Amino acid sequence: MSGVSVVFLFVLCLFATLVRGLHDNERKPYIVYMGEVPEAKTSIEDEHHNLLMAAIGDEDTARQAKIYSYGKSFNGFAARLLPREAQKLSDEDTVVSVFANTKRKLHTTRSWDFLGMPETSGRRNSKVESNIIIGLLDTGIYVNAPSFDDNGFGPAPAKWKGKCMKGVNFTGCNNKVIGAKYFNLDNIATGPVTPADDDGHGTHTSSTAAGVAVKGASFYGIAKGTARGGVPSARIAMYKVCWGNGCSDMDLLAGFDHAIADGVDLISVSIGGPSKDFFSDPIAIGSFHAMKRGVLTSCSGGNDGPSDYTVENVAPWIMTVAASSIDRQFQTEFKLGNGVSYNGLSINTFSPKKRMYPLISGTLAANASQQGYLNASACDYGSLSQEKVKGRVVYCEGYYGQDDTIKQLDGIGIVTSSDSSADVDVAFIMSMPGTTVSSQDSEKIDRYINSTKNPRAVISRTRTTKMNAPFIAAFSSRGPQQITLNILKPDLAAPGLNILAAYSKLPPVTEDPLDNRHATFNILSGTSMACPHAAAAAAYVKRFHPNWSPAAIKSALMTTAVPMKIKDQFAELSSGSGQINPVKAVNPGLVYDIPMRSYISFLCKEGYNGTAIALLTGGKKKFNCSSFKPAHGTDGLNYPSMHLQLTDTSARISAVFYRTVTNVGPVKTVYKARVTAPEGVSIQVVPDTLKFDKLHENRSFKVVVKGGRVEKGTHTMSGSLEWRDSRHRVKSPILVFTTDQPIIV
Ligand SMILES: *[C@@H]1O[C@H](CO)[C@@H](O)[C@H](O)[C@H]1NC(C)=O
Ligand SMILES: *[C@@H]1O[C@H](CO)[C@@H](O)[C@H](O)[C@H]1NC(C)=O
Ligand SMILES: *[C@@H]1O[C@H](CO)[C@@H](O)[C@H](O)[C@H]1NC(C)=O
Ligand SMILES: *[C@@H]1O[C@H](CO)[C@@H](O)[C@H](O)[C@H]1NC(C)=O
Repeated sequence: MSGVSVVFLFVLCLFATLVRGLHDNERKPYIVYMGEVPEAKTSIEDEHHNLLMAAIGDEDTARQAKIYSYGKSFNGFAARLLPREAQKLSDEDTVVSVFANTKRKLHTTRSWDFLGMPETSGRRNSKVESNIIIGLLDTGIYVNAPSFDDNGFGPAPAKWKGKCMKGVNFTGCNNKVIGAKYFNLDNIATGPVTPADDDGHGTHTSSTAAGVAVKGASFYGIAKGTARGGVPSARIAMYKVCWGNGCSDMDLLAGFDHAIADGVDLISVSIGGPSKDFFSDPIAIGSFHAMKRGVLTSCSGGNDGPSDYTVENVAPWIMTVAASSIDRQFQTEFKLGNGVSYNGLSINTFSPKKRMYPLISGTLAANASQQGYLNASACDYGSLSQEKVKGRVVYCEGYYGQDDTIKQLDGIGIVTSSDSSADVDVAFIMSMPGTTVSSQDSEKIDRYINSTKNPRAVISRTRTTKMNAPFIAAFSSRGPQQITLNILKPDLAAPGLNILAAYSKLPPVTEDPLDNRHATFNILSGTSMACPHAAAAAAYVKRFHPNWSPAAIKSALMTTAVPMKIKDQFAELSSGSGQINPVKAVNPGLVYDIPMRSYISFLCKEGYNGTAIALLTGGKKKFNCSSFKPAHGTDGLNYPSMHLQLTDTSARISAVFYRTVTNVGPVKTVYKARVTAPEGVSIQVVPDTLKFDKLHENRSFKVVVKGGRVEKGTHTMSGSLEWRDSRHRVKSPILVFTTDQPIIV
């Protein structure tokens, strides 16, 4: 370069800097995603640096801007960029996508949502199972929990390439928890940077998936029994990507990058955020590369139910899990001085010492000098008079964790009400004697308080009762999804309501800082709790069929799932194919497999361009979608469920689903189709008989769905297809969803 142009460039840069200074000079973390790892991995960091140099133009700035290079399982990097630099990078041929780093959240609402866990049974070949490694992206792990006792476990399987990082409050790995890494690329850790679980969530999910059996487990005597994970002989690898402030995209991607390369068999991710197009979504990207290497990712579907359009983690290569109930409920009796008692729900570990206590409502305990926006009826913090609360049980409208407030004011108990009848399935852990009653019952309690001279009440310790199940928990996110309209999500359901599992001793059992209880087990609710159940079920299937693809394993779990006993208005938009039945899933008869090339046809159909697809597959430079066998039919994917979503009122109900099933059952068999169609919809299966002579033989068929015009309002119409031979029932939901409401994203 000649001297003149250097000077000129310098001036230009100065000018650019000044202009930038006026507008947009704050560098923010972005992720630059580049698809499959290149053949020659050695130069990957150089490649990243060269790209950054080209975008930023200054060597030092480029070096400082880079945060992290991914390159074990996929290609890409995280860097602090200006918007125009991000734009420049996204125009590069070797870049699939560039997106701003965001934070995702754990899919549990801790001190609210809780559960009692079923004791799984069944004979185990622990030797084979102990070769299975479940990787979890979560809040870390408390290895000292009895659920992670490695007594009887041999060394880690030979394929294991992971490591165990060190840190505060972390005693190291063992032969059960064989790996632990943390990622804090975004610098969001508030406490010590360590693999230790200072939250409890990661310990809970890990032990749900693969904790060893612990006899006499309970939460202060509640939900007593043997606690154990779905695959108690499997190994656990923890990738800590969540800190006090949430889970950063950069850390999530690093977790996937490492977990896949370390040799995990399954990945469980109880984390989510708003759905985005697949290649701007770290969980979709990570799980895509996991899938390419034969690793299924189980994800929680979110806790934003019961509204529709709330489901998250919807990429078709993900197993999206809803939270269902088991048949156990936690009832806490609330008895008034007039002898009338009400059944509330809560986890109340406190036994009353007296027969009755004085009772008051938040409305009557209001601090008169406290006016304004505070709501004393709801016992808002700062709205109540300590004099009136002290020594009393307080009735508060609604529930959002007011127990902390009442406790601070020296109240001795709390009764809250659920806002709607839909919310009465979660038993909240109370940091003081407390329970939540239905809104109808709460009104009667309020009336008693108003009409009685010395109102009194007592709250019993929680007892465990049976209930009709399964149903989908109110908080569990519902479909339909908005990314790929005709793929039904969630895929299936697993227990996620009031689940007992191991907990970390580092945090208290509730979020209340005044709660000084630390426990070995805790009862939590959330799709976070459902996700590791489904991951463990997948591990269980994989242990019998080590060579099955992620799609085949998911298919086995979906086609053998059990429908909800109690359905809600959203039907399969709540539950997908139903609640997992791991023992049945080992022998599903037929599977709907999805090879990599089908995902590529699908991505072409979804409009992803050839250059991006070439980078994803690591294949040749340009990928010509039109030269590839096109994905056909309504959804373009050999999915184990069928879904048509129509939002166009001028449309008629009409869909064709092309499917291929693979025989994994006996060598010779004949399956017949059995169809149930919703009213006003016809469903035809062609052919309706499938004859198999060999194992792993494929048979194709199509499902033609026809109906009238889309009607006013929103309609969820459930049908199903079941392939039956003498031993198997291979069931797929067929869900037609129509609405005349525009979708608001
Ligand atoms: C965690 O580590 C800190 C600092 O070493 C220590 O004071 C504390 O007792 C530890 N907590 C537990 C529960 O081990
Ligand atoms: C009522 O509120 C006022 C103003 O915030 C406060 O100064 C006072 O201490 C409160 N009274 C009681 C009894 O809590
Ligand atoms: C106070 O909170 C309750 C429970 O959330 C609610 O039903 C009520 O409408 C609120 N009252 C006011 C005045 O905001
Ligand atoms: C109880 O009295 C309070 C205060 O007068 C009132 O706001 C509330 O509506 C009454 N509750 C019932 C159930 O009548």
